[in-house]
Amino acid sequence: MKEIKVGICGWGNVATGLYQAVNANKKIIERNTNLDIKINFIGARRDNPKCDPQGVEVLRDIFDVVKQDIDVVIELIGGVETARELILSAIKNKKHVITANKAVIFNHGDELFKAARENNVKILFEAAVCAGTPIIKVLQEELAGNNISKISGMLNGTTNFILAEMEKGADFEPILKIAQEKGYAEPDPSFDIDGIDAAHKIGILSHIAFGNPLPPKDFYIEGITEIAGDDFQHAKELGYVIKHLAVAKQEINAVELRAHPAFIKNTSILSSLEGVRNGIEIDTDLIGKIHITGSGAGQESTASGLISDIIHLAGCNKDYSEEVFKSSNEIKIVEFTEISFQHYFYLEVDDNPGVMALITSLVASHNIGIETIIQKDELADNQVPVFFITDLCEELKAKELLNEFKNTDVIKKVKRIRVEAD
Ligand code: HSE
Repeated sequence: MKEIKVGICGWGNVATGLYQAVNANKKIIERNTNLDIKINFIGARRDNPKCDPQGVEVLRDIFDVVKQDIDVVIELIGGVETARELILSAIKNKKHVITANKAVIFNHGDELFKAARENNVKILFEAAVCAGTPIIKVLQEELAGNNISKISGMLNGTTNFILAEMEKGADFEPILKIAQEKGYAEPDPSFDIDGIDAAHKIGILSHIAFGNPLPPKDFYIEGITEIAGDDFQHAKELGYVIKHLAVAKQEINAVELRAHPAFIKNTSILSSLEGVRNGIEIDTDLIGKIHITGSGAGQESTASGLISDIIHLAGCNKDYSEEVFKSSNEIKIVEFTEISFQHYFYLEVDDNPGVMALITSLVASHNIGIETIIQKDELADNQVPVFFITDLCEELKAKELLNEFKNTDVIKKVKRIRVEAD
């Protein structure tokens, strides 16, 4: 099995989340990648009472981590200037760097990438934008053959969480507090609520898609602090929801960049994303608009993005030509008849007294509950449509009921469609 030696700098919410996820998903990571992620050093000025690093050596000076026998330094200290120095120091020590720090990439990306190129090492930063929701490598690799004309969406989990709760009637301050407790917000939450964090992220995405420098020139940034409860009501009446949107758009010889609250149509895909979800819409020439959504903040989501970079760096993405990735005969497929669904039944039945009672008693005789039942206006030939949704029941039972309906004289037509759970 391949091995990658890792040093983590920082021991806060994100770093401990990475440590826990690497340990919790060790077997899955090994099965998917044949890679053993060895966290050999942690750089932390102080212990974190929420997480015991067990046998891992803790260095009190984070700058000592870059000098160790490791392949990659994972910068999770946050902030800008010390993070920049740490990354440059790692690069000079010929260490690859992974970071979740959008502020340092936004402000010093050009300088850091140049230093990495000159020293033949890589900087990966999937978790810097939308945490673990994949977007950086999607743009750099999966969509590399496309001409991208626009990227827009909600790139800050904290503000999306706050706005969705305010829409339901909550007040701003207590919801911000909850976002902080859940580990969504930045150490200084004004970065979230003033739109700066989303601006950093759209600046980085714009750099990847359109090649603007990092940092980009000043662009329009507005936060959510002026949004009040009434605004949600007014938006709703007009068919909109309020989201904090960040946009990068390719214009002729220019890039449009902005981050601010906006009304978006309540029918759009992005409008339905609540809580800490981020949502990105990308306009491409070859596959049209694509949408990517997922949790955009928090320990676990960020850990997912960091692990993806570690695997990528190690060159361990699944390669089906390798023997280790062969199928396992021990994996059994669940019997379809044992799967439980709710079911929609549509019947056309004789419009005679007692027929409805017969239908409901047939359903009950199969021990199936009815969630909703509706009878509609009469059709031709004394037929009437009846349709209903069952409670959850095993496929086998629903099939037996279907067969019984088919063999019942007063039922002239039967159709069944399974309801997929959320
Ligand atoms: N504070 C950020 C957010 C964390 O709420 O989206 C993830 O970058």
